[in-house]
Amino acid sequence: MRELRDYIFAGLDLRGKVILDAATGAGGATVDWAQRLQATGAKGRIISVDIAQPAHIVAALTERLGSLLELVEIREADIFALEFLTDGSVDIVNCDDTIIFLNDPPLRLLAALREFHRVLKAGGQLIITSELAAEREEEHMGQWRRWNLAKAVFALKGETWSTELRPQEVALALETVGFAITGQKCFPTRKIEDYEPAMHEWEELVLAATDKLPWPELRTSLRSSIAAVRKKVHDDGYLSVPPTYVIKCTKQHA
Ligand SMILES: C[S@@+](CC[C@H](N)C(=O)[O-])C[C@H]1O[C@@H](n2cnc3c(N)ncnc32)[C@H](O)[C@@H]1O
Repeated sequence: MRELRDYIFAGLDLRGKVILDAATGAGGATVDWAQRLQATGAKGRIISVDIAQPAHIVAALTERLGSLLELVEIREADIFALEFLTDGSVDIVNCDDTIIFLNDPPLRLLAALREFHRVLKAGGQLIITSELAAEREEEHMGQWRRWNLAKAVFALKGETWSTELRPQEVALALETVGFAITGQKCFPTRKIEDYEPAMHEWEELVLAATDKLPWPELRTSLRSSIAAVRKKVHDDGYLSVPPTYVIKCTKQHA
């Protein structure tokens, strides 16, 4: 994890920079970037956007940020439509653990990358961190079942939950939109024993989606599957984080 963070920030000059964090989620990356920005001692600001900024998440993030909050604007916005940002107004875009949710087939991600390209200044930097698909091996079965059950429930609702991309596909999409890749690195799978927050978030989301399905018997059996996944992770005592890659690039042409 530390190695991954070090790779993300290696060679970046954050002094006085305008940074777009897309998307906020629970705010882990926003806090990281705010700490690094503050450490430069120079002015700068972070705009942290998410399509949903629930009050309890914003309250928790605000508390975590403490005095760093003066560097951060938390804003509800859709990555596909960042109209509040003018062309060429951002120095750095960070997109951590989010592109899989932006990539409805065949390649909706391209539209998000175009929006990042538009808001970045010439030579501005984009850093993408994302996960590969979970591996279907006994050792990673808790994560595999968790992720694929969510995908299945959303598919039953007629929606796409997530679509993982391989680094080569992201690189091709980036080059298509006008970015030049400056570095990429893959980090191996790891286990987290502090799985409760992720499981809780997952369970709430999948149960809410299940409740919207129009088939009562299927709802009942899906609720049992959700409980079984929770038990599996609990019995294993950990959740696997699939292999993660970082791609760093710069805006090449307008
Ligand atoms: C896994 S979270 C991001 C984690 C976050 N970067 C962190 O460090 O904690 C993915 C987020 O993407 C957001 N998201 C999905 N589609 C979006 C969109 N079109 N615009 C903005 N945010 C979006 C979701 O609401 C979710 O909060």
